[in-house]
Amino acid sequence: MFSQRPLDIGQVRSLFPILNQQVYNKPLVYFDNAATVHKPLSVIDRARHFYEQDNANIHRGVHALAARSTASLEATRLAVQKFIDAPQVEDIVFTSGTTEGINLIAATYGRMVVREGDEVIISEMEHHANLIPWQLLCKQQKAVLKYIPVDDKGQLDLAHFPLTRRTKIVALTYVSNTLGSINPIKTIIAQAHAKGAIVVIDGAQAVAHLPISVTDLDCDFFVFSAHKMYGLTGVGILYGKKKWLEAMPPYQTGGGMVQQVSLTEVLYQDPPYKFEAGTPPLAAIISFAEALKFILSVGYAKLAAHEEHLLLYALAGLARIPEVQLVGTAAHKVPIIAFNLTHMHHLDVGLLLDAKGIALRTGHCCTQPLMNRLGIEGVVRISFAVYNTIEEIDLFLEALQEIIDKGKR
Ligand code: ALA
Repeated sequence: MFSQRPLDIGQVRSLFPILNQQVYNKPLVYFDNAATVHKPLSVIDRARHFYEQDNANIHRGVHALAARSTASLEATRLAVQKFIDAPQVEDIVFTSGTTEGINLIAATYGRMVVREGDEVIISEMEHHANLIPWQLLCKQQKAVLKYIPVDDKGQLDLAHFPLTRRTKIVALTYVSNTLGSINPIKTIIAQAHAKGAIVVIDGAQAVAHLPISVTDLDCDFFVFSAHKMYGLTGVGILYGKKKWLEAMPPYQTGGGMVQQVSLTEVLYQDPPYKFEAGTPPLAAIISFAEALKFILSVGYAKLAAHEEHLLLYALAGLARIPEVQLVGTAAHKVPIIAFNLTHMHHLDVGLLLDAKGIALRTGHCCTQPLMNRLGIEGVVRISFAVYNTIEEIDLFLEALQEIIDKGKR
């Protein structure tokens, strides 16, 4: 679809009708992409097509619509396997999102292997979704929850990686959702394996920006959400190594995940179906294949070059405003920038910028321990996607300068 030439941003934006609107009589500038990205027409059309033509439950009916539905869902599973370079299609489990994926692993693999006195390691920059399930697990199993500290730049301080022979699980984000820092997970995975621990990667903020090969990373689990990579909400992907998925007990039970049931006994299906009880969000899963096609049609190289350009341009612009205090200055970042203004609360900044048509996130961004570490209550966060432009960053910088100047009067 896209040529080899530099990204044709007009062509990209034409695929996202939502961008073409005014809020408060101002052109919408959407910089809240780390929360969720907008959806290209191909994804919206596929979901609509599903309800207009195919709507039927999967793996159950013998009729033509059910067969089409099932085939489309399984085709998406295959597309995901290829996209993240997983060894087998059976390694791909559909969940409701990254949060459910992590809860599933903690409640199944976690309870299976973590015993009293064992250790689980997370980091100080984790999203609450990759923190609370492990807190709960450690409390239940009387295990110890440890963490990798974060330095002043918002990077992991790996000199204090508290890995020991008692560590059973290392659960880590690939990219900080608040600061954009990219963590050296491949090295960490190898170190953890050398001590006999398995590694769970929260890929929610990575997948929209970085190509992923779970085979190359050699992680044990990798979880992410479709809606942060141009798909619909309500769908998550859990990749797990076959040996773990086979050994794990089911998370939820019910229809669709069993081979045989009597009043007293049950024989579960093999993975991935063992972990997919009930009816999943069919249209959202099926249309996710189109989101993957969209990313592949742009290509990660072109996408990353464009996003890097946006990141550097925005950072240079912010550096010219003395009232801006950047939060997180990691050497390797995806296009997520957190900052505060001197003498202005982050929430006020968010509200004042919203009135100028600029959508961004404020607050602790579901990372309260990170905020505590950095000694702040919250941040203003801007995050870019492939459809954002330099002109939008100019509008944002101009608006920011205006609210700073007004605040001084
Ligand atoms: N995890 C999402 C964010 O960082 C919601 O905004």
